[in-house]
Amino acid sequence: MALLQVDNMTHYFGGLRAVHDFNLAIEAGQIRGLIGPNGAGKTTIFNLITGIYTPTTGTIAFNGTSLLRRRPNQIAALGIGRTFQDLRLWRHMNVLEHVKLARYSKLTYGLWGAFLDSPRRSREEAESEAKAMELLQLLGIDHLADQLVVSLPYGAQRRVEMARALAIEPQVLFLDEPTVGMTPEELEQIMEVIRTIHRKLGLAIFLIEHRLKFVMELCEQIQCLVFGEVIADGTPDQIQNNPQVIEAYLGKDMVET
Ligand SMILES: Nc1ncnc2c1ncn2[C@@H]1O[C@H](COP(=O)(O)OP(=O)(O)O)[C@@H](O)[C@H]1O
Ligand SMILES: [Mg+2]
Repeated sequence: MALLQVDNMTHYFGGLRAVHDFNLAIEAGQIRGLIGPNGAGKTTIFNLITGIYTPTTGTIAFNGTSLLRRRPNQIAALGIGRTFQDLRLWRHMNVLEHVKLARYSKLTYGLWGAFLDSPRRSREEAESEAKAMELLQLLGIDHLADQLVVSLPYGAQRRVEMARALAIEPQVLFLDEPTVGMTPEELEQIMEVIRTIHRKLGLAIFLIEHRLKFVMELCEQIQCLVFGEVIADGTPDQIQNNPQVIEAYLGKDMVET
């Protein structure tokens, strides 16, 4: 069984079938892409796997454990980190605090910390801060550690969100349209950042993306979703040359990127 395995997943919002019979197998360390026009159901698939919605039918297993009916924070703790299409950051918290706060879910003391001796607690906090700084360095934002998120350019905010998702030390990182609103220069940089994360942390990545060039360059395997249905699943070459994909999607959008 794959690291993350989704079988025959279907989801209805009332009468609207947003996702139909979706299947996915992500192996450890793989980079996978999910493309498709607006409204195709891509974000819904992320929300179903990460526990925000429960699928109407189908199964989801991570490391052989079912994720159905688990809460989003439990799923994160099991090893699936994610970012959101619309950034969800605390605007008036600084960069380092964001990452440290996310790490708290991983710390051993938690509630019991109150009963632990304080040397151990301060040791763990120092360790936590060092780990958080390492992550910021990896993402090229360590020099911004004490800046408030609200004061940062958009591209840097995206990186903070990625750092926060990585703070839980996930085995898979879900990225929902990480290039939205980015300048061409930020785009090149974020592509490099994703490559670095993948190389240095060795995790699997599942990427929703609208810009084709980006997804074609980064991913080993890509699915194309249209009206909730996967119409193609293959390597970048296979996707690029698939007549159905070209008709449904690329014809319009590929030219632009
Ligand atoms: N919470 C919701 N309630 C009702 N309909 C929704 C909800 N979330 C998404 N949808 C609908 O499901 C479809 C897929 O949306 P979404 O997954 O956001 O698409 P994508 O991310 O591919 O642009 C759209 O028709 C959208 O309007
Ligand atoms: Mg979306």
